[in-house]
Amino acid sequence: MLGFGVSLLLWLCQTVSAQYTSDDLMSFVTLPNIRAAKFDVQYHNRERVSPGYWFVSPYLHIGPDKPSSLYEPYQIGPHIYDGEGRLIWTGSQLFDNRNVFDFKAVDSLGPEPRLSMVLQYSWDSKEDTGYGVVLTNDYKVERKLPLRRDLGLFDIHEFKIREDGKTALVTIYLSHEITLAEFGRPEETTWLETGGFAEIDINTAEVIQWWDSYNHITLSEGVHYHPNTPPEGHPGWDYVHVNSVDKNDAGDYLLSARFTNTIYLISGINGDIMWRLGGKYTDFEQDFMFSKQHDAKFIESNGTHHIISFLNNASDEEFNEENISASLFVELDTSVTPKTARVLHRYNRPDQQLSRLRGNTQLLPNGNVFTCWSKEGYISEHAADGEILYTANFTSPRYSSYRGYKFEFTGRPSAPPDLVASVLGTDETNMVTTFWVSWNGATDVAWWHFYAQASEFTTPVLIGKTARDDFETTYTGHGYLDWVSAEAVDANGTVLGRSEVYRSNHPDWAAVGYKGKSNPPAPIDPSIVYGVGDHKVDDAGHTSSDAIDTQTQKTIQILGHAYDAIHNISGFFSFLLLLGFFAAVVAGYLVLRGWRLRVYQRLPREDAFLSERARLASPHQD
Ligand SMILES: *[C@@H]1O[C@H](CO)[C@@H](O)[C@H](O)[C@H]1NC(C)=O
Ligand SMILES: *[C@@H]1O[C@H](CO)[C@@H](O)[C@H](O)[C@H]1NC(C)=O
Ligand SMILES: *[C@@H]1O[C@H](CO)[C@@H](O)[C@H](O)[C@H]1NC(C)=O
Ligand SMILES: *[C@@H]1O[C@H](CO)[C@@H](O)[C@H](O)[C@H]1NC(C)=O
Ligand SMILES: *[C@@H]1O[C@H](CO)[C@@H](O)[C@H](O)[C@H]1NC(C)=O
Repeated sequence: MLGFGVSLLLWLCQTVSAQYTSDDLMSFVTLPNIRAAKFDVQYHNRERVSPGYWFVSPYLHIGPDKPSSLYEPYQIGPHIYDGEGRLIWTGSQLFDNRNVFDFKAVDSLGPEPRLSMVLQYSWDSKEDTGYGVVLTNDYKVERKLPLRRDLGLFDIHEFKIREDGKTALVTIYLSHEITLAEFGRPEETTWLETGGFAEIDINTAEVIQWWDSYNHITLSEGVHYHPNTPPEGHPGWDYVHVNSVDKNDAGDYLLSARFTNTIYLISGINGDIMWRLGGKYTDFEQDFMFSKQHDAKFIESNGTHHIISFLNNASDEEFNEENISASLFVELDTSVTPKTARVLHRYNRPDQQLSRLRGNTQLLPNGNVFTCWSKEGYISEHAADGEILYTANFTSPRYSSYRGYKFEFTGRPSAPPDLVASVLGTDETNMVTTFWVSWNGATDVAWWHFYAQASEFTTPVLIGKTARDDFETTYTGHGYLDWVSAEAVDANGTVLGRSEVYRSNHPDWAAVGYKGKSNPPAPIDPSIVYGVGDHKVDDAGHTSSDAIDTQTQKTIQILGHAYDAIHNISGFFSFLLLLGFFAAVVAGYLVLRGWRLRVYQRLPREDAFLSERARLASPHQD
């Protein structure tokens, strides 16, 4: 009977883990409700890598999720990682697990860096049409800019705060009902989804200037609709699919439209199209081709000569014109007839694949090029001469990041570090206290110093220190330590912040078979055990060996293994659930049809229906 129960359990475990594995997510003792996506990083040459952090915003579904189908714990939203794929900040909880896009650092809004992003319109887009959001570098929302209602939902492609810090550029989508005269069917009408941009005031969200492809870009420029395409209802044919906007000092706008394969320069004076690069009606003599491009940006522009970058090549859901996607840097001369366009640099997607949807490319200050190929968070950095320095991707296919950037950034969270401490041991001789510490959003933490004190009001005593080695750092100290705290220290020894003082968790001593003299055990006075002089901490953060006897070291080892094992089966949470479940099985609940492990995403009940609705509600997300 019991044997049967155990094999049933094993079978169920296997089934559950096959279906719902969460090995692709990080888990932390200090922040149990955070599950950030893990990166797999492959370095080719570390020497030439530029300094900075990765700014990505993983999402699971590109459309907004219904509140009832939002994930739990927090997985998506704005995230900062370091170059080893270690988490620096997750802002998932700030936005309640809603999708954000175009997440990046901004230097033009004052001496302190800011963060900007698009908070996607909500499931009920009548209620919440989305925002451009700006955070301070202590991770507080500083501005939340809506888009004027008559310009549609806040589009997810672009929220670019300009270098003067006064305005921001956003892409817009509108719908118009038109006749099909252009296609020789003047008696028929269809809805047409047009695209353009708006420039908004960064303080008031007032619209300074806006432009729409309606009456500027004809149906024939698009590649997806033909004289015999049947008409569509609202929002209509997505014939241009605008996906980026930029502006030069001359005041003209660079607009990328994926479904016309064209990059447009639009006059800031009268809205005329000044030239088209690419597509059916290019004004340039080009030494290259491109299609289905993303993220066209000025690198330099003096009005007649431009260097622009974009992510090309060369495919979408329906077609692929070429076989490998690439970051392209091209030089345009519009002072000659015909205008000329030539490739300065091309950086191919390292795995020789196509990015069919989404993506962006960024020239870094040292000339390196950072590209987000979008699907599965695939990113790469090339040196200017084309050497691939590294690639990285999420460790499973279920998350993507629309765009990704790299910036140097200083984050100084206003919330203190998070700390958890736990005591274990079987008698006085082998008691240990393990600390787990993290500080969501803090950059530059090089060391953690750990403290304990005899009571709430006595002075903290340094227990030990260790180098910060990941988002969460652990440390084990000798003895039953209570009233514990931790201090974040940078490479120069400057204290960046301190946690609050916490009580240590302890087990039910009787249940764990504690055999010490005083039972239950009492915390030690750290000023006696760790008093000045008889305790030293070396630079590698190891406490001197005479302080910890062999028995204790064994216990530490066992704890370490237990901790790893728990991590391997994806966190305390599942571990406890499975234990509880085991008990339930043994207790005779052998008929468990319909039972499911609580997964990290609450699955919508009518998945197919909902995703279809999401697609209809938000057709222009790629
Ligand atoms: C796209 O990739 C193909 C194959 O590598 C290459 O021949 C072509 O020139 C590329 N086009 C652009 C615009 O990079
Ligand atoms: C723009 O730059 C080009 C190339 O550097 C130069 O030849 C041209 O004179 C410049 N034009 C203006 C208006 O500065
Ligand atoms: C793309 O690859 C296919 C098959 O490998 C080849 O036949 C085709 O010519 C390639 N197209 C381009 C534009 O390189
Ligand atoms: C990520 O890249 C590795 C190689 O670096 C590859 O084995 C793996 O399949 C990729 N994972 C995804 C989700 O694309
Ligand atoms: C440490 O000090 C040096 C010199 O004062 C400074 O350049 C550097 O930025 C500091 N590092 C940190 C992490 O604060």
